Amino acid sequence: MRILGIETSCDETAAAVVEDGYKLLSNVVASSVDLHAVYGGVVPEIAARSHIESIIPVIDKALKDAFEAKSYELRAKSKKLLAKDSKLSAGFDPWDQIDAIAVTHGPGLIGSLLIGVLTARTLAIAKNKPLYAINHVQAHVFAAFLTKKAKSSELKAISLNNRQPKFPILALIVSGGHTQLVLFRNHSNYKLLGQTTDDAVGEVYDKVAKMLGLPYPGGPSIDKAASSGDPLAIKLPKAKLENPYGFSFSGLKTAVLRAAQELSGNNYTFPSTELPQALSSGQKADIAASFQYTAIQTLLDKLEAAAQQYKPKSIIIAGGVAANQALRKQALERFTTPVIYPDIKLCTDNAAMVATLGYFQAINGQKPADPYVLEASPGLKM
Ligand code: KG4
Ligand code: ZN
Repeated sequence: MRILGIETSCDETAAAVVEDGYKLLSNVVASSVDLHAVYGGVVPEIAARSHIESIIPVIDKALKDAFEAKSYELRAKSKKLLAKDSKLSAGFDPWDQIDAIAVTHGPGLIGSLLIGVLTARTLAIAKNKPLYAINHVQAHVFAAFLTKKAKSSELKAISLNNRQPKFPILALIVSGGHTQLVLFRNHSNYKLLGQTTDDAVGEVYDKVAKMLGLPYPGGPSIDKAASSGDPLAIKLPKAKLENPYGFSFSGLKTAVLRAAQELSGNNYTFPSTELPQALSSGQKADIAASFQYTAIQTLLDKLEAAAQQYKPKSIIIAGGVAANQALRKQALERFTTPVIYPDIKLCTDNAAMVATLGYFQAINGQKPADPYVLEASPGLKM
């Protein structure tokens, strides 16, 4: 069963084809991140406009890549010397190879979601394919079920774990919009253990980077700056909440701001926009390292407490912040349960995770969405 996934919840326009929920045939991502970098964050209107421009070429490329790869494999198997793209020449319609479409319908930016959802609805009707509505946050975890890929030059840079995660799975989903701790009993049955009551951890990475004058997106910039700083230079608070698996990062963000103002020799009225000029590069590195240390400790403390209670057979850390090198290293050191990370290219927003979740919805008997009525749900919950 081959599923075409479509993802447009934020600033990435993405399409991918996945076979049987584990084999990646293509993965195309067009990001408008450069357009947002000058503003230090995603501008919803710019993101939506750029999805309109990219969505059709991105889907076309995902289909072309998928079946070019497939034709290479067929050629290798039959040892017949087929012309390089004979499969794609006259008479071959990649849509005949697609069994269903899966699209992110929330949560996310309304303008961005609308482009993906309306494109998927139109294609589902025009090509007569079942349509699966996907929750973006849940999909992040499903990137970890991809264990094989087609032999294609486009997928060379992606490496996959070769073993399937085992249930029960404890998943930490950390991205620019979400911080969730979820227990999966199987592919379709999960329990939300806790989530953030305010900012998502990735959002705080982005805001701290902005305070320090580091380039957007903040995650990779902080990760890099932190490597030359002292993680114990500044003591920062960890929020205590009633739910031991809940998160709150807005207090940490304010504490970083106050520490930065103090280090620069100013008081709490000093404007954050002037901090990049007022701090030395050594001070910036210490702030980045101390912030990153506290944020990661907070995430891993909760993950560890949940692991002790629920005794998972696998731990999955997914979402954009799972690309963080320090988080990866520390989690591997801290747990005896296998910790699985999707490849960095599959941690940030992509459509392969959407197609994978779509497959499991399809085989687990979930009813497809009505392509005439499916709506974008910006506030969709897990
Ligand atoms: O999953 P994602 O691509 O989009 C959302 O669904 O939000 O995550 C984007 C977030 C951004 O906040 C970005 O700063 C963060 O992931 N991120 C990182 C790293 N790479 C991306 N955070 C920490 N360390 C990184 N290396
Ligand atoms: Zn995401």
